[in-house]
Amino acid sequence: MTIKPLVLLPDPILRQTSKPVERVDDAVRAFADDMLDTMYDAPGIGLAAIQVGEPLRMLVIDLAKEDEEKAPHLFINPEIMSQGDEVSLYEEGCLSIPDFYAEVERPASALVHYIDRDGKQQEMEATGLMATCIQHEIDHLNGVLFIDHISRLKRDMVVRKFTKLAKQRPVIA
Ligand code: NI
Repeated sequence: MTIKPLVLLPDPILRQTSKPVERVDDAVRAFADDMLDTMYDAPGIGLAAIQVGEPLRMLVIDLAKEDEEKAPHLFINPEIMSQGDEVSLYEEGCLSIPDFYAEVERPASALVHYIDRDGKQQEMEATGLMATCIQHEIDHLNGVLFIDHISRLKRDMVVRKFTKLAKQRPVIA
């Protein structure tokens, strides 16, 4: 079990555009397992590779509740093919922006194509919390954070707060 350090706002790494995974091999699967360990430890329901400093287009999601069995999903090179016309409002958070939550409006459904851990092409019609979560995580692959979807005033406030916190954080190694 490997828990990787999380990249936090305002680290510019979070603004990078991640590159496609070229081949799904054992190294990619092992890294995906590290991502899951890191996400469960945090705890969170979704994590993109860039949040542990790897600019690769892969993300993990597990929406199972605490008393339910784990239901890990791995999405490699995910792509949104289409989005529904309806929108939904959900209070989002992010492991890279701890303890900050804000309502974000997103399409209520999305058709997503991706590659699974066996290297097979898959598709998912995501609805409900899965739709919100997968769109939030795919944003990360493009250097977009959920605070980019809220008012400028609130965004400036949270960036200022985390910039101050980062200065107080001890630098290790
Ligand atoms: Ni996030």
